[in-house]
Amino acid sequence: MVFSALRFSAVVVAVLPLVSASLERRAVRNGHHPHFEARGTAGKCIATSWSQVGERVFDYVIAGGGTAGLALAGRLSEDAAVSVAVIEAGHSAYGAQAARVETPSAAYFDSSVGSELDWQYKTTLQAGTAREMSWPRGKTLGGSSAINGLYYTQASKREHQAWSRLATGSSDDTEHWGWHAMRDAHLKATEYMGSSVRELDGAIAAQANETLGHSGPLAVAYPARSYSSVAAWGPAFASMGISAAAAPYDGQTHGAFVAASTLDTAEWKRSFSRSAYVDPICDERANLVVLPNQHVTKVIFDDDDTTLGQRRALGVEFAASKEAPRVRVTARREVILSAGAIGSAQLLQLSGVGRKELLEKHGIDVVYDLPGVGRNLQDHLAVSTSYKVKEGVPLPSNSSPDDRQLNSYVDGAVAYLTVRDIFGDDTAAFLQRAEAASEKYAEASQMPAAVKRGYKRQVRLLLRDLLAEESQHGFSGHAKPVLEMLLGTMDSSMHFSSAAQAPFSRGYVSIHSADAFEQPHIDAGYLGHETDLELLVAGIKIARRAAATSQFAELLESETTPGAAVATESYEELISYVRETAETNYHPTSTCSMLAEHLGGVVDQWLRVYGTSNLRVVDASVIPVSLSAHTQSAAYAIAERAADIIKQARKEGKSEPVEECAEEEEEEEQDEEECEA
Ligand SMILES: Cc1cc2nc3c(=O)[nH]c(=O)nc-3n(C[C@H](O)[C@H](O)[C@H](O)COP(=O)(O)OP(=O)(O)OC[C@H]3O[C@@H](n4cnc5c(N)ncnc54)[C@H](O)[C@@H]3O)c2cc1C
Ligand SMILES: *[C@@H]1O[C@H](CO)[C@@H](O)[C@H](O)[C@H]1NC(C)=O
Repeated sequence: MVFSALRFSAVVVAVLPLVSASLERRAVRNGHHPHFEARGTAGKCIATSWSQVGERVFDYVIAGGGTAGLALAGRLSEDAAVSVAVIEAGHSAYGAQAARVETPSAAYFDSSVGSELDWQYKTTLQAGTAREMSWPRGKTLGGSSAINGLYYTQASKREHQAWSRLATGSSDDTEHWGWHAMRDAHLKATEYMGSSVRELDGAIAAQANETLGHSGPLAVAYPARSYSSVAAWGPAFASMGISAAAAPYDGQTHGAFVAASTLDTAEWKRSFSRSAYVDPICDERANLVVLPNQHVTKVIFDDDDTTLGQRRALGVEFAASKEAPRVRVTARREVILSAGAIGSAQLLQLSGVGRKELLEKHGIDVVYDLPGVGRNLQDHLAVSTSYKVKEGVPLPSNSSPDDRQLNSYVDGAVAYLTVRDIFGDDTAAFLQRAEAASEKYAEASQMPAAVKRGYKRQVRLLLRDLLAEESQHGFSGHAKPVLEMLLGTMDSSMHFSSAAQAPFSRGYVSIHSADAFEQPHIDAGYLGHETDLELLVAGIKIARRAAATSQFAELLESETTPGAAVATESYEELISYVRETAETNYHPTSTCSMLAEHLGGVVDQWLRVYGTSNLRVVDASVIPVSLSAHTQSAAYAIAERAADIIKQARKEGKSEPVEECAEEEEEEEQDEEECEA
């Protein structure tokens, strides 16, 4: 396909709107509610044909219209002077799919997990669990934010100091990833919409109002209904010596609290990245095009433009299916990968950025040998105990599908526990055991050298600064929680889950074919490190202690799983139970880690992929060390930070458009002259 980039950019510029529409939800809500009135229908920015993107030129091309991708697109397109295209492999989820996405309780009763809105990934056979495990990921506009459990939690201040230290060599809070920067990003992303529920401690809601945002696109609120089990949560943990979290939305997450949800109280619907960042402005912004149902197959790089030894991304190639023809789109300024913890790593490898041996094995031209791509994979593995509730104890059910308030209920009761909460006076001994186990683990692991150096660096940071009560290097705030306890309520049963928040095991994502439509290998590495097993075993004991508190004893009749067959005193029985029943808590991160390159990093602190000049990754894959929180808040905050960084780069003249006819494959002389002129 021969075409002139210059000619196409003239077309794009001509249709830009004169003023950029405000993203602020409040503005939307004060007038009509266009996204609600238009329920089930796509706005004008949602492309209906590949040709609205294919063979065209945009300033920014974003691969993946998920949580971070659409948030970033919403922010970048605020500037009417730039054009933005998003390409999403999944369905738009307007129309027939809308109810399932929008109804909060559908997360339990009519889940999109396992549907066509889910990639339905499977891990490889996990040595630690002797199973292949299912790994859902959103495949739709909004990505995983459209299919997730709506929990809205944030990581702690100390974790962000550590992230910033890893990314920049400094823990100065003014850096991009320190606590203050991230708190500002959280504030910018959110609008707290309140709580009207009696079962909730009023202090929590008042504090949420003080510490969450007030004019951001993403609605965060408490459901309209709640249950006695939720009311029992805080007091039960208090009776176990675990007090209420001091400020879950201000960096102090340690302790028990009822988390808010990504929920819009105007109609008691899920708030997710498409409904928050795109739907309200979709009709007004001609500089934004969002194309669903097209799979990005690779990033195209310039062959010879090696400015300072860095390769320039010219655009991406995409296709509707394995058999469909590949179509290209040009990025005048930048290509941004927001395909998530699996997709972004896979796309980099398919595009020639990854470990040289892997790429060569699949016949992919090496653009840049970067062994960290797909590595450092971390997830929150969870194990649950289940209970039959006493007669007459009310629990959520889907008995009244049309009752919006009733169906706004989603679980939110959580408790974040530190090593000290779990091991008490044996904390130092635990940390020593974990250190010895980590040495053994690193020794035996097949990680590339740089990745192994990075792993050792992370473990040192974890043991000395994050998990230890007092940081050895001056990090402030409370210790990073190692376990999250979650209350699960459904029909006639109740569950207590324990999810590992500081995984010591590492996995990887690697292509096993040069075909973009083949699922990559996902080895989560679950339980490869014995400390993870030890922590999950401790989690079962805590769950049982919680169930035995007077608050829960009043509600519960008996433990159904694991039940009497597994004794709390038997470490062997508990280990088997963890291996047999643990499941993902859906929080994979870190496959494109923000770390120094010699530590196995993939992106720098400006989210730029090493070895490239204008390719960034913006999604949960850049988080260098797993956060003690559900991951959507970080995905939104990363997108907010990325938007600022990218806007700043343009202001400073650091992402000037390249107008050469880079896209042409079979250039004719005439065109070449025109381009160079
Ligand atoms: C079932 C489930 C429940 C969860 N529950 C919670 C919760 O309650 N609270 C919470 O905070 N977090 C939860 N999470 C995690 C959280 O939703 C994710 O961590 C977060 O949304 C990830 O954002 P992201 O932008 O990194 O990736 P995603 O939101 O997954 O976005 C990636 C997007 O890229 C697209 N894509 C991938 N490859 C390609 C390609 N080649 N071409 C084009 N498009 C592509 C995908 O289809 C997807 O839309 C849950 C996740 C799941 C799956
Ligand atoms: C938050 O606090 C402000 C100021 O006290 C108040 O006006 C507002 O109604 C509160 N919002 C919610 C959602 O509780």
